[in-house]
Amino acid sequence: MTADMTGPTDVLSVDHVQKRYGAVLALRDVNLHLKDGEILGLIGDNGSGKTTMLKILSGFHQATSGQMKLHGEPVVFRSVSAARHAGIEIVYQDLALVNGLSIAENVFLGRERYSGPLRTLTHRRMRKEADEFLARLGLANLPGMTEDVANLSGGQRQAIALARALYSQPKILLLDEPTAAMGPRETAQILDLVRRLRDEQHVSILFVNHNYAQLLEVADRVNLLRNGRIHFDKEVKDTSLEEITELVISEVRRALARQTGLQVEGAQSTSLSGATALAQEVE
Ligand SMILES: Nc1ncnc2c1ncn2[C@@H]1O[C@H](COP(=O)(O)OP(=O)(O)OP(=O)(O)O)[C@@H](O)[C@H]1O
Ligand SMILES: [Mg+2]
Repeated sequence: MTADMTGPTDVLSVDHVQKRYGAVLALRDVNLHLKDGEILGLIGDNGSGKTTMLKILSGFHQATSGQMKLHGEPVVFRSVSAARHAGIEIVYQDLALVNGLSIAENVFLGRERYSGPLRTLTHRRMRKEADEFLARLGLANLPGMTEDVANLSGGQRQAIALARALYSQPKILLLDEPTAAMGPRETAQILDLVRRLRDEQHVSILFVNHNYAQLLEVADRVNLLRNGRIHFDKEVKDTSLEEITELVISEVRRALARQTGLQVEGAQSTSLSGATALAQEVE
């Protein structure tokens, strides 16, 4: 079951969102709502439109049709900075760090515009503030603040991208597979941080993650995106890893059956044309 209408506790929601990229229909009719102070897990096959959904919510892309609401009020974000001003931050799946700049410089990147005093930050102060900020977030295992981010591991880069998003103290956080490149220890750090952001700072979080076990550890609710729609919407306490795995496996089985059907059809047409060729030879 999916919610069709904005509820009183929704901080961010979309109704009947469609998104086309030219001929590709990435989202068909999505109704999704993020409740105040919850962690909503978003799952779905590769190419099911998860990143597209997050990019629409963050102002990076605009929906082809449909409506978005912020605290129940219709809203249109024409840019990432418009969404940012409304308290929404995104951590991209394809990381947006700038190689050639240090960790500290990446944490502060682009902040000058809406944080006046930072304009006057010296490099020394910037390094110190970045160092303290990362420590406060509990992000350990990072090299010195002057290290070029090009030299960091995938997981370390993700941690910096997350820190950068958190620097503006968002009320809504959109996370696109932040732990994909991480080992168990780094993953645990991020999951713990995500939980603390909800519990201590009341941040509402939309969390895309292919690892269902990880997701069930932290999420309050799970949505499954399939064929451009939300097909499953359950509180984590009312579902299980088994149910979610079975949902996904049944989709793979259906895709395999379709594929096998196509192959059989293909094989038949090949053998038919083979038979025709043989008949022609005999003639
Ligand atoms: N900028 C774009 N231009 C054209 N097509 C796009 C663009 N971005 C995404 N698509 C297409 O839209 C569909 C949804 O892609 P999207 O990246 O949102 O999926 P996803 O669920 O995030 O996949 P993954 O799990 O692999 O990250 C795919 O068919 C993809 O090829
Ligand atoms: Mg994606």
